[in-house]
Amino acid sequence: MRVYLDNAATTPIAPEVAECMIPYLLNEFGNPSSTHSFGRQAKAVIETARRTVAKHLNCAPAEICFTSGGTEADNMALHISVNALGVKHIITSAIEHHAVGHTVEYINQQGNIRLSYVKIDSKGNVDLVDLERLLQTEEKTLVSLMHANNEIATLLPLEKVSALCQKYNAYFHSDTVQTMGHYAFDLQKTKIDFLTCAAHKFHGPKGIGFLYVNKLLKTEALIHGGAQERGLRGGTENLYGIAGLAKAMDLAYENITEHQEHVQALKTYMIDSFKAHFNDMSFHGEVSPEKSLYTVLNCSFPPTSKAGMLLFTLDLKGVACSGGSACSSGAVNMSHVLQGIGADGSRPNVRFSFSRYTSKEEIDYAIQQVKDVFNKTLV
Ligand SMILES: Cc1ncc(COP(=O)(O)O)c(C=O)c1O
Repeated sequence: MRVYLDNAATTPIAPEVAECMIPYLLNEFGNPSSTHSFGRQAKAVIETARRTVAKHLNCAPAEICFTSGGTEADNMALHISVNALGVKHIITSAIEHHAVGHTVEYINQQGNIRLSYVKIDSKGNVDLVDLERLLQTEEKTLVSLMHANNEIATLLPLEKVSALCQKYNAYFHSDTVQTMGHYAFDLQKTKIDFLTCAAHKFHGPKGIGFLYVNKLLKTEALIHGGAQERGLRGGTENLYGIAGLAKAMDLAYENITEHQEHVQALKTYMIDSFKAHFNDMSFHGEVSPEKSLYTVLNCSFPPTSKAGMLLFTLDLKGVACSGGSACSSGAVNMSHVLQGIGADGSRPNVRFSFSRYTSKEEIDYAIQQVKDVFNKTLV
């Protein structure tokens, strides 16, 4: 049996999405910038997709800029903030995805901004009192905090952070790569200046995503050389990717409550099964449905001498999952996220991540494989 439980890394493309992309790979291949009928047809596909995305976020189509994915969209948000909006102070956390973490470090090295890291607790929750303290400054400030952590699942209270940013007149960027397509967004209710998306995290194609930019903001191109995407991003558009992204979004939001309930039930079942089997079981990050992303579960298993072999053994048994630790010569090197929350490096950790296609049988198989590894190694 082969079981894929690494959906936070990427998800399988939905058959309906692949199908909807095929015409644009075969017959409807026009360049959207061409003025003839082939081009006009392609342009119409892109603008329809933009309206679809905007409908799901309750924003204006002009606020959506298609990108190559989450990393590019995060880079754009941060660079626009500094270069076009004159941001002089960025507040972020130590457990952001590298798409944000490494980019703010790079911008900081250029010497034009002040960088602050907000305090987080041992479950990855942002300390809102500390955030408010950091916001009390005259400098133009951007807050960049991810909606859900891709390793430990902890959710950010978006409304509270949005309200704080408005109170102190700061811009707000949230990396929503793990939550787009998994939670509903209403940008008329919650004011956020920048949101980011990668379609492959919700059964869309790889290499396509978008940046939402609040229309009231001044912007500046990151990629020069063409007038595409209203001058924000030059280059011939990824026509079939954009069509696939819109279809994936429609499918994700069509039955979102059903998907959420299905996946949450599998996650709860895995939590309960491991707790019942291991005396000393814990989890990294928040685990409750209210405070954690339902597609991700980061397990902290009891210490074992074979910790470094755990992922490898599961892979041999056909279970694909991932870990935030790399073990080299007996020493476990923890990811920046696990280090950031002060995780115990002596305990093996495994991130299981689920999708709407994950079945109970697959979860049962994975749980059994984990138990087998421990039964053999703990004696
Ligand atoms: C939270 C988060 N941000 C950004 C990214 C980057 O997305 P992409 O690889 O599509 O550029 C990822 C991908 O793992 C992610 O999980």
